[in-house]
Amino acid sequence: YGAAQVLVASNRGPVSYTVGEDGSLDAKRGGGGLVSGLSAIGSDADALWVCSALSDGDREAVRQGVGEDGVRMLDIPADVHADAYNGIANSVLWFVHHMLYQTPLEPVFDAEFRRQWASYETYNRAFAEALAEEAARGAAVVVQDYHLTLVPGMLRELRPDLRIGHFSHTPWAPPEYFRMLPDDVAAQVLRGMLGADRLGFLTERWAEAFTACAERFAGGLGGTRIGVHGLGADADFLRKRAHEPDVEERIAALRQEIGEGRRTIVRVDRTELSKNIVRGLLAYRRLLETHAEWRERVVHVAFAYPSRQDLAVYRDYTAEVRRLSEEINAEYGTPGWTPVVLNLKDDFARSLAAYRLADVALVNPIRDGMNLVAKEVPVVSDAGCALVLSREAGAHEELGEDAITVNPYDVTGTAAALHEALSMRPEERAERCKRLAAAATALPPAQWFVDQLDALRG
Ligand code: G6P
Repeated sequence: YGAAQVLVASNRGPVSYTVGEDGSLDAKRGGGGLVSGLSAIGSDADALWVCSALSDGDREAVRQGVGEDGVRMLDIPADVHADAYNGIANSVLWFVHHMLYQTPLEPVFDAEFRRQWASYETYNRAFAEALAEEAARGAAVVVQDYHLTLVPGMLRELRPDLRIGHFSHTPWAPPEYFRMLPDDVAAQVLRGMLGADRLGFLTERWAEAFTACAERFAGGLGGTRIGVHGLGADADFLRKRAHEPDVEERIAALRQEIGEGRRTIVRVDRTELSKNIVRGLLAYRRLLETHAEWRERVVHVAFAYPSRQDLAVYRDYTAEVRRLSEEINAEYGTPGWTPVVLNLKDDFARSLAAYRLADVALVNPIRDGMNLVAKEVPVVSDAGCALVLSREAGAHEELGEDAITVNPYDVTGTAAALHEALSMRPEERAERCKRLAAAATALPPAQWFVDQLDALRG
């Protein structure tokens, strides 16, 4: 047995390495809920985070034995990882749970899929074996997300003494959609998940969908318990970070780009198909078309950070976002006014600056496990922002009352919601924003993680 009492397993870990020109390794710690959540259990010797080596720098770090205490990176062969991560996790499983397929032509479960599925099994087994090796007797293991659905079942076989949890950061597909997967693969996914003592989801809706799948295709939940933990925004971290000098600098720059006296509609996403950035732009164009009074008086600041660029559909989607933004600027722009300011380069400080300046936040995903942007903007907004929020985002369960709700497919409806948000009286906007921020921070990441551990051990 190993020494770790608490273990986390996820594809993306808390730290990544790049190789400098002189061959030295440079470590960069990532942000996000999971990273700050885990810091809550301390960096004591009892905790271990198992993750994949993702970059060349990561692989080099593993080979040189460089690493952080409390983190173990697995150097899974690059081709196996690519099949599992790009081919299965981010194509098949992500598309199933977010219901993204254009079903007349896809998915196609052919021999190529079977080959990739075998890699997904290998990749999951590498995690299960590392966890089995590192875990102390009776330790608690929390496995994260759709990349690692087979791990709980595999680990249970290797180490029946462990307490095994799994947490899904995505939606779960309803049975009618989930059964698109080949029957044996669907059964394997469910059996893998049901190897856990406890499964966590972000909302009731996703927990119910999983339960329905388990009942229809796996004979029920067996002894596995289900819990809902609605991860909240990390208010302390965000408020502090949003007032550091680099953010202040970017606020000044953004103000210049936006121009004096104009309202700002902000969105911040990875360039991800489920985020519905294209329909968001169409809605903004519709707003300018039907409400001429907003021309010259509003700017849409859209952040679409590069994501999963190995996949052609993501690259095509990014190109479409760029094309449409340029089209709107050509159609409506004037010498002193750029209607859409599009940001495709990752710059966290600049997105925080936009959060602070936002009059309206636009969060319109087709389907989203939670969506933390919807929770973060109200927390750091300077003057109080209105939130236009898709009813298909998990966050809607908690924020729906004070947001302006949209059907993400309804472009004219979203345009009307943007108009309503821009027209809201400042006092009402500030009031609603305050309530949104309170709801958004009800379960801070650290508590979110501790709650799961307590429930797993209880
Ligand atoms: C979603 C998933 C996470 C994933 C993140 C970023 O939020 O639930 O597991 O890490 O997207 O995606 P990436 O593929 O860049 O890790």
